[in-house]
Amino acid sequence: MSNLTAALALSLLVVAAVPLAQTETAQLTDAQIEQFLSKARVTRTRSAPKGITGSTRATLTDGTLTHEAHIQTIDETVREFRSMREVEFNFRDSWTFNIAAYKIDRMLGLHLVPVSVERYWNGKRSAFTWWVDDVMMDEGERLAKRLQAPDLRCWNDQVRLLRVFDQLIENIDRNLGNMLITTKWRIWAIDHTRAFRRSPTPRAPKDLTKIDRTVLARLQELDEPTLKKAVGRYLDPYEIKALLQRRDFIVAHFQAMGEEVLFDRGSEPACADTVPVVPR
Ligand SMILES: Nc1ncnc2c1ncn2[C@@H]1O[C@H](COP(=O)(O)OP(=O)(O)O)[C@@H](O)[C@H]1O
Ligand SMILES: [Mg+2]
Repeated sequence: MSNLTAALALSLLVVAAVPLAQTETAQLTDAQIEQFLSKARVTRTRSAPKGITGSTRATLTDGTLTHEAHIQTIDETVREFRSMREVEFNFRDSWTFNIAAYKIDRMLGLHLVPVSVERYWNGKRSAFTWWVDDVMMDEGERLAKRLQAPDLRCWNDQVRLLRVFDQLIENIDRNLGNMLITTKWRIWAIDHTRAFRRSPTPRAPKDLTKIDRTVLARLQELDEPTLKKAVGRYLDPYEIKALLQRRDFIVAHFQAMGEEVLFDRGSEPACADTVPVVPR
C-alpha cells in the first residue's frame, strides 16, 4: 500500500469510527438495548454517583458496542420506615420496580424511562438499566443554577407527563437527582425502586395538570390481564390493583377537565429533540 493510500485508509477509519459509534447508539431499538443489557459482558464496575442505595455503574461490551449500565440489586422490605415526611409500613425498596416502571412507561408511549432488564449479577437478581448519555445536569442542579429550558413548551410537556407517571406509579422518590436532563433538554426519569405503593388514589392530584392525548388513550386501555402479563413478575397483585385504581382516578380527573388540558406532544417542531425517537 502506498503512503497515500495508507493515509487515506486511516483517515477513513478515523472518520468512520466516531460517528458510527454515536449513530449506532442513537438508532438502537428498545429490543436491541434489552438484548445488549441482558447479554453484554461486564468489563468494569464502580459505585454509581450520588445515590444512597449503593448501586453500581458498569461498563458493558458485546464486542461491537461498549456502553455504560446502571446495576441495582436492592430488594428490601422494612416493617416501619421513617422518612423526613412520614412513617411508611411495609416499605419496599426494590430493583424490580425499575423494570416495572420501564415497561409501563413504554405501554403508555412515554419514553421517559431508560430501558431496564432483569439480569443475574453476583448471584442476585438485579435490574440492568441503560446509562443515559449526554447528561447535562439533574433537576437539582437546574434549580440551583436557576436555568430554564430554551423552549418552555417542550420542557413543560415533558414535566407534566412525568408528574402524571409518578402519580400513576405512586413514586415517593422523585427527588431532584432522579430526573436527568440531557444537553438537548430531554428529560429521563431514573430510580423507581421506591414506587408502586398501594394507595387507591394519587397522593398529589394537583400534579395532574395536563396530559398528552395519546397517553390518555393508552392509560384508558390499561387492564389487569395486560399488566399481569407485562409486569406480573415485578409487581404483586395488590400493587397492580392499586395502580389500576389510581389510573381510574387519573382518567376521570382529565375527562372532567375537558379539551383544554389535552396536548399533543411533538406537534411543535421546536420540540423535536425532546420527543422520543422510536426507531422501528
Ligand atoms: N440510567 C442512568 N443513567 C445515567 N445516570 C444514572 C443512571 N442511573 C443512575 N444514575 C446516576 O447514579 C445516581 C444513583 O443512582 P440511583 O438509581 O438514583 O440510586 P439511589 O437509589 O442510590 O439514589 C443517580 O443520581 C445518577 O446520577
Ligand atoms: Mg436516586
